[in-house]
Amino acid sequence: MAMNRAIWGARRGLLAPRRSSPAAVYRRAAAANYSTSSPSPPSSSSPASQRVPSKTSAPAFAFAFDIDGVLLHVAEPIPGAKESLRFLHDNNIPFILLTNGGGKREADRVGFLAERLGVPLSTDNFVQSHTPFRQLVDGGEDGGLRDKTILVTGSDYERCRAIAREYGFRNVVTPADLLAAEPTLFPFRSLAELQQGATPLPKPLYDGSKSSLELESSLKIDAMFVFDDPRDWAVDIQIIMDLLLSHRGYLGTLSPKNGDASLPGCGWQQDGQPPLYFSNGDLVWAAKYHLPRFGQGAFQAAVAGVWDRYTGGHPLRRTVIGKPAGETYRFAERVLTSHRHETLRRMGLHEPPALRSVYMVGDNPESDIAGANGHVSEAGTQWVSVLVKTGVWNEERDRGVLVGRKKPGVIVDDVREAVKWALWRERWEGLWKGE
Ligand code: G3P
Ligand code: MG
Repeated sequence: MAMNRAIWGARRGLLAPRRSSPAAVYRRAAAANYSTSSPSPPSSSSPASQRVPSKTSAPAFAFAFDIDGVLLHVAEPIPGAKESLRFLHDNNIPFILLTNGGGKREADRVGFLAERLGVPLSTDNFVQSHTPFRQLVDGGEDGGLRDKTILVTGSDYERCRAIAREYGFRNVVTPADLLAAEPTLFPFRSLAELQQGATPLPKPLYDGSKSSLELESSLKIDAMFVFDDPRDWAVDIQIIMDLLLSHRGYLGTLSPKNGDASLPGCGWQQDGQPPLYFSNGDLVWAAKYHLPRFGQGAFQAAVAGVWDRYTGGHPLRRTVIGKPAGETYRFAERVLTSHRHETLRRMGLHEPPALRSVYMVGDNPESDIAGANGHVSEAGTQWVSVLVKTGVWNEERDRGVLVGRKKPGVIVDDVREAVKWALWRERWEGLWKGE
């Protein structure tokens, strides 16, 4: 839809990290023909060819770090993560954290991450999967959703509501609100009952007895948002399906256009139903378990599967942001650019050099790597994809997936080697004092 087009323009085998030199890492990568999207390396790594940057030099490069599988395994820092971020912070080298995770207010998650990673962080250099949703408060062809009614779901309904309200959405409804107002919506016991909190609905639910003239006084949902990984798939799928099949988003109605073969798309999603947004398409992610775990992408597949079965194979129209979506990378570059300007301004550099390169350090070829490789920067910044081995990608099992956009610029062991490699490529390696 036009509104969207306008806006949304392992295995962990490295717990004992190897101590390869960046040059050796690069040579290994080059020998394995992984250096696909990155330009030629420096012709020499001898000290004579190195710049001698200092804390007051302005780097023409920056970093974007994935979190799960690169910096953390759930709450535990991955070896090398703390020292890498500390190094960048202490040397005024700008970076952002760009995660497909979410479900907490940005300020809360940043506070947690700063404590776990031992480095100052702020919401100015932090993008969660759902952060770009804030653009829909006032953006889009309908003038935004600020005063419309939206449905939000995710791991914790109240936290999702709090995030949405903080973004500026004023009328936020959760599945728990709907079940509290009408328990027969879902005929089984649900986890929603265990979640604390339900807010009275802004309007009563349509109960099947009103005429179409009276419909306006019933609850109408104008958009649906999945903020992070839902816990109660059954309830959420039921409610999302109800709205996808409704007349104009009035929950409890059924569109007469559904399945009408004389209409485009057999009438499915042709009756003003609310658009459906997912914040993250990751099928799997790197948690603490030794094998990848299902993420929000699995929930999306479940919704799409039920839709496919219900409609006899009609495609489900939805918008998915988060990595690798272009909109998320464009958003991230704007955030990084403004954070970088502020960082360099504090150093007294009011006219910093153009941002030449961003090193996207990620563990997931499908999201981190594909997104960085596919991103076309409006400012001409080159995004260099760096794949680490501490997350979902497994060297033995998954080598075959590294094709096309999923082929990284370089593969390194972990985040520490990623930073060292980038510094070497930028001829800033002289600054690195660690191993
Ligand atoms: O739910 C978290 C996940 O899908 C991935 O997070 O930090 O690896 O992008 P991250
Ligand atoms: Mg990750």
